[in-house]
Amino acid sequence: MDTTTVLKPQDFLSYYSMVEAAKVGPSKLLLETLALIDGDSRISNPALAVDLGCGTGKDTAELLRRKWQVLAIDFCKEGIEGVLLRPEATQFKDKLEARVATFDETSWSGATLVAALLSLPYCPPDKFAWNWASVVSSLVPGGYFVGNFFGHDHLQGTSHIVRCSRNDVETMLAGLEVIRLEEDHRDTRDGDGSQYHYFDVIARKAA
Ligand SMILES: C[S@@+](CC[C@H](N)C(=O)[O-])C[C@H]1O[C@@H](n2cnc3c(N)ncnc32)[C@H](O)[C@@H]1O
Repeated sequence: MDTTTVLKPQDFLSYYSMVEAAKVGPSKLLLETLALIDGDSRISNPALAVDLGCGTGKDTAELLRRKWQVLAIDFCKEGIEGVLLRPEATQFKDKLEARVATFDETSWSGATLVAALLSLPYCPPDKFAWNWASVVSSLVPGGYFVGNFFGHDHLQGTSHIVRCSRNDVETMLAGLEVIRLEEDHRDTRDGDGSQYHYFDVIARKAA
């Protein structure tokens, strides 16, 4: 894994503007996971979902619409304010807890689902392994993780991202049932040859 600097909460404001302007909907990877959970008779309702690094809450909103209890966590207060401005936050007020906190300074337990969509690789590198261990230990038996990790080709030249090899990701997922582990390279729109390099993951803790 390589990274040297970390981003601050305000560094994500331009990402939020882009997401809000484009009215980006819930993550396809999350929707795929929710379909799997819908078909999993071992999952009981109501269940807790944690949206880790929730940003302005496009995925939290989807979870609330589907009647999950949701804990939305982000260290950027403007992101959490965006979550609370969503109509779902009012409509399903009793089902939402929104926390301004870094991944490592907060805790939870009993999660049926932890979603870390485009978020965990931005944490300080010395906290990455600990944060991942916390995610896994917070899942109930049979609980699901959905999220993304970044590979070594991801936005080369930037130094604020924890990058993983496929072997790193496989090691992290050891002990979980891996439902999806897809490695994907995509060109950015910068036209300079830079690429997104993702590992998309859906995994399940043993029941
Ligand atoms: C690229 S955005 C993704 C937001 C949302 N999950 C999505 O898919 O659109 C990354 C999010 O992670 C949050 N984040 C980054 N590092 C964090 C940390 N150490 N603790 C808590 N949140 C963090 C940022 O504030 C930001 O909202």
